[in-house]
Amino acid sequence: MSTYFEYPDPEIQEELKNIIKAIIAPGKGILAADESTKTVGIRLAAVEIENTEENRRKWRQLLFTADPVISDNISGAILYPETLYQKADDGTPFIKLLEDRGIIPGVKVDTGLVPLFGSDDEHTAQGLDDLSKRCAKYKKDGCHFAKWRCVYRISETTPSYQALIENANVLARFASICQNERIVPFLEPEVLTDGEHDLVRTQKVTEQVLAHLYKALSDHHVYLEGTLLKPNMVMAGRSCKIQYSPQDVAQATVTTLLRTVPPAVPGVLFLSGAGQNEEQASVNLNAINTVDLKKPWTLTFSYGRALQSSALRIWKGNSDNVTRAQELLLKRAKANGLASLGKYVPGSIV
Ligand code: 13P
Repeated sequence: MSTYFEYPDPEIQEELKNIIKAIIAPGKGILAADESTKTVGIRLAAVEIENTEENRRKWRQLLFTADPVISDNISGAILYPETLYQKADDGTPFIKLLEDRGIIPGVKVDTGLVPLFGSDDEHTAQGLDDLSKRCAKYKKDGCHFAKWRCVYRISETTPSYQALIENANVLARFASICQNERIVPFLEPEVLTDGEHDLVRTQKVTEQVLAHLYKALSDHHVYLEGTLLKPNMVMAGRSCKIQYSPQDVAQATVTTLLRTVPPAVPGVLFLSGAGQNEEQASVNLNAINTVDLKKPWTLTFSYGRALQSSALRIWKGNSDNVTRAQELLLKRAKANGLASLGKYVPGSIV
């Protein structure tokens, strides 16, 4: 095992740390608007909007033209590559709308899930081949962080060792390539919520997922201070019969992180995931920030559904509803900003 390796140049380290400092500024988190064309289609279909490029553009325009006060609570936005090069009705590039609001643009760079052959219906993510070239272009075009998502399915037989090592390794390769291009890697190992498993089972799985991930990051000499983590909260499966309180979720989540995520990692920004409504995502984040355990990282949000759902339901593709939808987006951003400080009073923002 080689102990002769290089950390990134000091200027790169400094640049990555500065980007992260802005992203995890107190009371702020990320708006995840990087749903793939297929996934955003599912969200749009739920409110009977056709999945066309123009409708996707209009929806993202609504998000990115919200009142600039949104940047009190939103420090970064993750975009799907298609969205990066779209423009508002008046011709302003989306990237510029974000920059004008002091919101740092980021991009999803994995090109999606593919079957992990030889496993029991598990997956890995692809997109490494031309990643370095794409990152260089995205950096030039204004993106300062990039996301890569891998998923883990809990069942009697999964996640397998094969899935744990493969996904950890692909995430580590992604991270080192990004850092080389002066882009902060935002690592998303998502343990899915499908199933009847209880909280303890999710905790054990998430501990294994993260332990494998940080071993792989070490093996690839990734500069941890220049990374961010986007994990699931530790929650029971969606079909579990047992009810757990936000305090149970907080205890299990922070315990899992303490056992696996080095304190050198500056920030953990949770995904909201399937099965949590917007209010639950805020209440759980607040509980995570108030639980009586050590917390050597900033713990905040990188939410998709938990920021967008009610705004999308109000919008319904109708331009008359844009302002009202944007107000709802702002409210969820505010609630989550407070929750990231442990200051959200449940039910206070509806
Ligand atoms: P959710 O918060 O809706 O889970 O989305 C976050 C995300 O980026 C999923 O990849």
